[in-house]
Amino acid sequence: MSAILSKTESWALFSLSAACTGILANTFHGEGEPLIVSLALSGLAFAFSFCLIRWLGPTFMRVGLKGKDMSKAKQIEIPETMGAICAVVYILAIIIFIPFPFYKYIVAATSGGGNKDVMFELNQVETGRLLHRFPHSKLASYLSAILSLQSVVLLGVGDDLFDIRWRHKLFIPAFAAIPMLIVYFVDFGVTKVVVPVPLQSYLGEIFDLGWLYYGYMASVTIFCPNSINILAGINGIEVSQSLVIAVLIALNDVLYLIPINARPHPATDSHLFSLYFLLPFIGVSLALWKHNWYPARVFVGDTYCYFAGMVFAVVGILGHFSKTLLLLFVPQIFNFLYSAPQLFGLVPCPRHRLPHFNARTGLLEPSTAQFKQPPKPLVDIALNILHKIGLLRIEKNPQGQIVSCTNFTILNLWLVWFGPMREDRLAMGITAMQTVVGLLGLLVRHKFALLIFRQDNLTV
Ligand code: UD1
Ligand code: MG
Repeated sequence: MSAILSKTESWALFSLSAACTGILANTFHGEGEPLIVSLALSGLAFAFSFCLIRWLGPTFMRVGLKGKDMSKAKQIEIPETMGAICAVVYILAIIIFIPFPFYKYIVAATSGGGNKDVMFELNQVETGRLLHRFPHSKLASYLSAILSLQSVVLLGVGDDLFDIRWRHKLFIPAFAAIPMLIVYFVDFGVTKVVVPVPLQSYLGEIFDLGWLYYGYMASVTIFCPNSINILAGINGIEVSQSLVIAVLIALNDVLYLIPINARPHPATDSHLFSLYFLLPFIGVSLALWKHNWYPARVFVGDTYCYFAGMVFAVVGILGHFSKTLLLLFVPQIFNFLYSAPQLFGLVPCPRHRLPHFNARTGLLEPSTAQFKQPPKPLVDIALNILHKIGLLRIEKNPQGQIVSCTNFTILNLWLVWFGPMREDRLAMGITAMQTVVGLLGLLVRHKFALLIFRQDNLTV
């Protein structure tokens, strides 16, 4: 891969950076509208990641961060772990961003200027009593999110370097989540959930989950990064699914910011918080997507999968919409449940489950797991049933014993259903499905939630 930017790319990136810097400089004259700053920083993050991915590819390869593209006729090696570049640029962007959302409070508490909504007497300012207006809790949430993201990026890079076994790395995101969960505990401490109407006669209107709620949030942080990592293996799929999820969460956030009523929605702050984390993520991911889409010039590495999953877990938990988040993860949840027989050792699990490339046709076909011994009777029955209902394809020997089955991922299932296809067609199909399912998820969230809950919080 050439490490040089073309003339058109250089001009486009230069113009984008200049425009974003201009917007950024302009915000210093006004009240420093954080959302505009976030957008400008996201543009810059895109430009920086784009250049760095191109420039640093050969450097990464030199230290061994490279992988073979298994679904190509010529299995050339290309740089891996490019998600690390995105993660670093992203973390720098959200660190630089810190002063902007918190600046107006600092101004209000120290000089009395800048924020017209906060009214107070000058002598109170001088005695410093109003300093509590500074939103320590929000800053604590923000910093804990950065800490969690940094920890998970460390884990990702470690995994790309040493290929940690999945059963070892599975729980590490839970440690990364501790700073965030402890801030949640101190800040909100809300562990109560609204009970769906049909169950209210048994559990009451609101049910306190207590410590279980923390267990649930820890599970979300384990699930999101790992589920993206196991829906992987064809060019562009890791970034595409993450971009769809990020854009849909951002869309949901924007719904809460549109002024429907005269007063702002009570969840405005939570959804702004979520946007501040998502916009730069979309910026760096687009830059990676350009390089990782078929035919890939770089691989994203486990670093990107963990990082992306953690961004979603952070915004879902600290933004208080983890259930909505899970609605956008339906394809990943299905892929995880479907993978379970292989992940938990009921069916053999090869090191790689990505679809098989047929060099003669140039198309991808479902890859298979081979049985060294015939499966146990119960597994045999289950596999036969799955085969009958079209959720799997099995092969038998002349004695009628199962010798192989297609690997349990939705990428392979898609190929079982729709037949062999080119790598980019498969990625497009899965991405389109993710988008449709996600949009339906949001529709269910805001329209049909009223069937089982008394109100949709969008209309509060
Ligand atoms: C996970 C999956 C594994 C899948 C792999 C592919 C589980 C339990 N593990 O493992 O089944 O094969 O991701 O990412 O489900 N690669 C390509 N083309 C691509 C992307 C990756 O050929 O578009 C290959 C490259 O050789 C690359 C390697 O996959 O080096 C990366 O695999 P890695 O991320 O280390 O696999 P795992 O995350 O452990
Ligand atoms: Mg991986």
